[in-house]
Amino acid sequence: MTKKTITHNSRKITKAVFPVAGLGTRFLPATKSIPKEMLPVVDKPLIQYAVEEAVAAGVDTLIFITGRNKEAIANHFDKAYELEHELELKNKEERLRVVREIIPSHVDCIYIRQSEALGLGHAVLCAKKAVGNEPFAILLADDLIDGSGEPCLAQMAKVFEHTGGSVIAVEEVEHDKTDQYGIVQVENAADQRTTIQTIVEKPKPEEAPSDLAVVGRYILTPRIFDLLETTGKGAGGEIQLTDAISDLLGEQQINAYKFSGTRYDCGSKAGFLKANIEFALQHPDLVAQLEESSQKICGSAS
Ligand code: G1P
Repeated sequence: MTKKTITHNSRKITKAVFPVAGLGTRFLPATKSIPKEMLPVVDKPLIQYAVEEAVAAGVDTLIFITGRNKEAIANHFDKAYELEHELELKNKEERLRVVREIIPSHVDCIYIRQSEALGLGHAVLCAKKAVGNEPFAILLADDLIDGSGEPCLAQMAKVFEHTGGSVIAVEEVEHDKTDQYGIVQVENAADQRTTIQTIVEKPKPEEAPSDLAVVGRYILTPRIFDLLETTGKGAGGEIQLTDAISDLLGEQQINAYKFSGTRYDCGSKAGFLKANIEFALQHPDLVAQLEESSQKICGSAS
């Protein structure tokens, strides 16, 4: 069967879905009453990095799929009149600017409650009405990506504009970690952009078709929603986005894209701490203050 490259009226991505309903149990007790997406890397919550990445790629509608105890996310992106007033009175102009610039004024936020935690695929399906019949992006805030020069989603949006086909960000992972990711088999693993042949959720290393893992950035065509409606439970007993993408592969060409930049797995403590250290080193005012600690780290490593 020849696969179609679907062409939509517009190849501009204006809507992004942020599944943020997960419980974040790996970070307990920190996440007992704070959403894991609100954990800060230096001075910004993880979700803000993802939102900034989406906005930089041209997105103007943010769709958050939330769950219980996630009010802090909506509060973070809402206007904080009292705080702004206090900062104004105290002439804290720089801090006022930081608070006001969390989200640009042309960007809208939509919050949809995922009533049951049935998996990533189910979370994405909750966005169906809000997205409508348009291609859209999905960003998993756990995967913090420092694009080298250009944010990851902006790189992917260019691939989408060029090909009109769905785009999934991928990177090589250690062979013994394939059971933590969606894993793809591609047409030409040496290319930065190539075509996906198969995709499977969290295969054991001995069953994995490759070591090329899906990271949390997707640009998908709206056909995925129809497929998600009939996707049954998969790995871990959850409705998996990966399984619906596998069905989509039977109909449409899907690109795997090796983004330029560094991904930090902020769903793990080590990845989260690494992100904090490396992002802190990008703040000139913190570098000097961190020198003593980094000497200690280097000293204990040698
Ligand atoms: C999800 C996806 C998986 C993907 C990963 C990227 O898994 O199901 O395919 O590789 O995100 O971070 P999760 O980390 O939510 O278990």
